[in-house]
Amino acid sequence: MSWFTEARFGLFVHWGIYAAAARHEWVKSRERLDDARYQRYFDHFDPDLYDPALWAREAANAGMRYVVVTTKHHDGFCLWDSDLTDYKASRTPAGRDLLAPMVEAFRERGLRIGFYHSLLDWHHPEFPVDLYHPQRDDEDFKAAAAGRDVGKYADHLHGQVEELLTRYGRIDSMWFDFSYPGRGFGAKGRDAWRSAELLALVRRLQPEILVNNRLDLGSGDFTTPEQVMPTSGTVGAGGLPWESCQTLNGSWGYDRDNLDWKSPDLLIRMLVENVSRGGNMLLNVGPNARGEFEPRAVERLRAIGAWMRLHGRSIHGAGPAEGMVPPQDCRYTRRGDRLYLHLFGWPMRHVHLEGLRGRVAYAQFLHDASEVRIGEPPADDPGHHYLQVPPDQLTLELPVQRPDVSVPVVELFLTD
Ligand code: GLC
Repeated sequence: MSWFTEARFGLFVHWGIYAAAARHEWVKSRERLDDARYQRYFDHFDPDLYDPALWAREAANAGMRYVVVTTKHHDGFCLWDSDLTDYKASRTPAGRDLLAPMVEAFRERGLRIGFYHSLLDWHHPEFPVDLYHPQRDDEDFKAAAAGRDVGKYADHLHGQVEELLTRYGRIDSMWFDFSYPGRGFGAKGRDAWRSAELLALVRRLQPEILVNNRLDLGSGDFTTPEQVMPTSGTVGAGGLPWESCQTLNGSWGYDRDNLDWKSPDLLIRMLVENVSRGGNMLLNVGPNARGEFEPRAVERLRAIGAWMRLHGRSIHGAGPAEGMVPPQDCRYTRRGDRLYLHLFGWPMRHVHLEGLRGRVAYAQFLHDASEVRIGEPPADDPGHHYLQVPPDQLTLELPVQRPDVSVPVVELFLTD
């Protein structure tokens, strides 16, 4: 597990033929498209600009240490050259396995490799229709599909997972998505997927691998809160590692007309917030159907990278500062004897750190290693000009001008 909690920041990639529709990876279900109507995205999927070395470079420069890529999403389309289906990249105009070069490119940059794999499959002929299936309202379709055998589908699912975990070398994490027992018509969980058996298969093929918590087996090696900012106590109970997965704009797959983009500052604060609470952040990019990260995504990754280049020390290998309460609008992370004070706001001249008087040997800004002076009220000051600070608080003297970085960070060298 240690690589995972060290890494803190990863890239999620949602890529498949839905990128051609360019209106969310659930488009087939949302718009109740049938196979014939959805086929146009398969027939026209030709990512001629696909160069995963560029993706890996953007991820590495953003400070990301691992990648999780959608091998297959709910629509059933496979990025790799599976022997168990023709519904795969090599049969589209792309004409080749798109997963292999991605794995290679990210590995070359030193990133760990994770596979997202959908438990659902809206294309497979034995996948029983349910509340999420695109044809859930089509009575004729449902009548024709009444005899579907989920056991046969599960065999297929296990077979595909076996391919993925035997053809691409060491895989560091397996990200199954998702289980929905009890949610209504045709709801599925561990019985449908034969989750216990599937997990045993994964562990047998890749003994070192980490597996997420969406197999409906109670828990996993780590938990995966989705598009929420965890608050203390909501995740990580019992010390279980967690990773919040986040989007740039609310959609996972490429979504051309979506304008709900998060600002780079917000994304950086989200990353800090995660680490300060002991979690990782897995940030998604949905590449387009020519095989590129669009400019709005690249701009954000680069802004995060600009900040991470100077502040990665407060993120990689860092975690919560147990027992320390940060001042208002601030977040702490800690790594060994270093405490990192992230200033989300910018106070006037002073910030007071509770419980730290006498515990800090030196303080500096992280972006330029310039000293941040520790304030001492002059002995003869009657309290008119200096501050009345409670005795256990440590005062830092901040410049009036806020450093020109997204989130300023003070690095504190602790004496204990
Ligand atoms: C959800 C969605 C999905 C996305 C995933 C990422 O469960 O079904 O489209 O891939 O979350 O966490």
